[in-house]
Amino acid sequence: MKNYHPWWQTGVIYQIYPRSFQDTTGNGVGDLPGIITRLDYLNEVLGVDTLWLSPFYPSPMADFGYDVADYTDVHPLFGTMQDFDRLVAEVHARGMHLVIDLVPNHTSEKHPWFLASRASRKNPRRDWYVWRDPKPDGGPPNNWLSVFGGSAWDLDKATGQYYLHSFLKEQPDLNWRNPEVKAAMFDVVRFWLERDVDGFRIDVAHFIMKDPEMRDNPPNLSGVAAHKSLGAYDSQVHLYDKGHANVHGIFRELRALLDAYSKARPRFSVGEIHVYDWGEWATYYGEALDELHMPFNFSLLKAEWNARDVRSMIDGLEAILPDGAWPNYVLGNHDETRLRSRYGPDQSRVAAMLLLTLRGTPTLYYGDELGMPEATIPPDKQQDPWGLRVPGLGRDGCRTPMPWDATPSGGFSTTSEPWLPIFSTEGCNVEEELSDPSSVLSLYRRLLAVRKSHPALQLGEYQPIDLAPRDCFVFVRKAESQTIMVALNFSADPRALRLPDGFARGRLLLSTFEDRTETDIDETLILHGNEGLLVAICPAPSVLA
Ligand code: NOJ
Repeated sequence: MKNYHPWWQTGVIYQIYPRSFQDTTGNGVGDLPGIITRLDYLNEVLGVDTLWLSPFYPSPMADFGYDVADYTDVHPLFGTMQDFDRLVAEVHARGMHLVIDLVPNHTSEKHPWFLASRASRKNPRRDWYVWRDPKPDGGPPNNWLSVFGGSAWDLDKATGQYYLHSFLKEQPDLNWRNPEVKAAMFDVVRFWLERDVDGFRIDVAHFIMKDPEMRDNPPNLSGVAAHKSLGAYDSQVHLYDKGHANVHGIFRELRALLDAYSKARPRFSVGEIHVYDWGEWATYYGEALDELHMPFNFSLLKAEWNARDVRSMIDGLEAILPDGAWPNYVLGNHDETRLRSRYGPDQSRVAAMLLLTLRGTPTLYYGDELGMPEATIPPDKQQDPWGLRVPGLGRDGCRTPMPWDATPSGGFSTTSEPWLPIFSTEGCNVEEELSDPSSVLSLYRRLLAVRKSHPALQLGEYQPIDLAPRDCFVFVRKAESQTIMVALNFSADPRALRLPDGFARGRLLLSTFEDRTETDIDETLILHGNEGLLVAICPAPSVLA
């Protein structure tokens, strides 16, 4: 079927952190019924179509749900399985799609699998996790580090062996080299597919396969780091503790499973994969595009925020993408500093335009559509275990409750003391921003509407324009007879912009500012400082002739 594009390519993904979206019980934690009450906002008001929910499963919450104690149930804090079924039905009734978080690398230490595994060396579940004897000096089996600080090994005194935990010690790593583990996790996938979810976001997908010899990681002498500094974790090159090539076989099998459930509509997978190298990143699509539908692309988080670096990240991605692979872009999530605080109030509007006009599926993080800044959390209110262990790396600041209105509880809850403080700067809430045409929310709404109504923006090819003014990134998106120019000024100064060669006239579709009045554009125009523009452009008559 030529030109067929499934929903996960045409749509926009919106990430909900369930704890912080909408509380309906007054306990200060968001829940699934709360999400249901906000579906009309998401679909009709904002205009997104795919929702990704961070974990809502039973969990001791050592890592706020990324430590799962039961993969096939709903934590009572978030509601019930009936609430989940209702959510799926309500999402589908609106023509939207639901993607849930799958956490395959580790369970909670309280998961019955781990309780059995640690009970004795002889337990049939022992080998479901990664157990090793101490070194002769009693120390950990190798030098691997936990992302969250310290050694990745914890000694279980009762049985005299160490178990591996790439994150908290409360999150023991599963042993994916044991076929029973794979079978059990694939049963989890089946369980949710049967409940009609549309796909999975796979937590630290590449971590599931490690070096079978468990060699020491080499020291990091070149200073290469992921997209942000991770403290002591960056002292090693993470060659052996994740991303072993055997992971690809697992993803091929997972893809076959998803495909088997794709008769009525395509089911989808997107992997959270942070790697150093583009080439390695691209392998996660699979040689025959038979692995993950997409590995999340975090490259923009790594780019210096200037026209040259941003363009080179995008061109780099376009160049490395395997034939037929679908790109995607991410500018924020529950692990990253809020984009408003990374780029400032003006450039975060330019960032919104970039994210929603690039070729590929964009992922939006809840609250970024309001321009929510990173919150400052008083020390006694901090929650994130990472931040509590490694000061400076905490993620609470991007996880505060969604401000729906200007009341003390922000319309998030009936309590004014939610799990993290309401942090909203003046006017930054849905109600007030909806009535302000110059608000960040109004900009996102316009951008999403223009994207939806223009095939060139949804599906068209991407062509960067070389002769862009200094500090500007200009590209066109093109589909059949439609060509749209995206012009982004990364500087605070105005810049004179010419339409690309061969184009004589343009019609302004959207500016990141509110005060643009002109609609017709001749060969040149002035791009204001910090402005982004979308212009539908028409070929010069000589080109048409
Ligand atoms: C990545 C998730 O995005 C993060 O929030 C979590 O803490 C770790 N994986 C561990 O599951």
